Amino acid sequence: MKNINTDEQYFYPFEANEPMAIATEALNVYYHDEYHAINDTSLQFKQNQITALIGASGSGKSTYLRSLNRMNDEVAKVTGTIDYHGVDINQPDIDVYEVRRRIGMVFQQPNPFAKSIYDNITFALKRRGITKKAALDEIVETSLKQAAVWDQLKDKLHQSALALSGGQQQRLCIARALAVKPEILLMDEPTSALDPVSTAQLEQTMKQLREQYTIIIVTHNMQQAARVSDYTVFFNAGQVVEYNKTNKIFTRPKIQLTDDYLSGNFG
Ligand SMILES: Nc1ncnc2c1ncn2[C@@H]1O[C@H](COP(=O)(O)OP(=O)(O)O)[C@@H](O)[C@H]1O
Ligand SMILES: [Mg+2]
Repeated sequence: MKNINTDEQYFYPFEANEPMAIATEALNVYYHDEYHAINDTSLQFKQNQITALIGASGSGKSTYLRSLNRMNDEVAKVTGTIDYHGVDINQPDIDVYEVRRRIGMVFQQPNPFAKSIYDNITFALKRRGITKKAALDEIVETSLKQAAVWDQLKDKLHQSALALSGGQQQRLCIARALAVKPEILLMDEPTSALDPVSTAQLEQTMKQLREQYTIIIVTHNMQQAARVSDYTVFFNAGQVVEYNKTNKIFTRPKIQLTDDYLSGNFG
């Protein structure tokens, strides 16, 4: 595979010394059948911004995203550096549970536990030794408020999460991720199982969450990337083609391949 990650090719939208939430340096991901899914990818993600990862199906967006909180450990070999507050969290001695607490993940399909709404949110907290009811109640309320679903759910906290609508389940999953006080939220096509109204509402919520969290979202929906994100990374065949402020990528891409992809003249 030819490496197109050269300086002339993908433009960096940042000044030196801007605060970054997380960064990868020469990240490579090989699935166990040795398929080289991510090739030498160096990217930085700015704090309190929403960065969208776009690209064709199979281009490596999810693979890259899952590597950031060590979710590929069992299925792939991941080499290179993942810099989080000056620590390389890709090292073998790193506590991956702590990594996943600080870097939470929301998946394509809402995946609440078969438990009550309340227990979904408090499950991880109890395992971390937070057991006082007042403290748990407070976190349940704050997390559901941040996920913009408190008003809908506050009177049924002890009902099963599985009885909720898809949109409500996805918000509950966001609340569950927020309950352990992460800094970064990884979202892999979080609205693809939702109807248009729930999708629009969730996009609104993401913009509010940006004030407190750094969000990296994979989306196959280019309009969604344009609507919600501050920065956009375009992946192709396991490599970054172009990285820029979202409005620049969408109005004036620097690379022909990006232009082709955005205008639908791809492949
Ligand atoms: N668990 C896996 N084992 C082997 N290959 C995988 C696995 N997951 C993804 N891949 C392959 O890696 C490539 C990138 O996949 P993925 O990251 O899911 O792309 P995207 O999210 O952009 O659609 C694809 O060719 C896919 O088939
Ligand atoms: Mg994917």
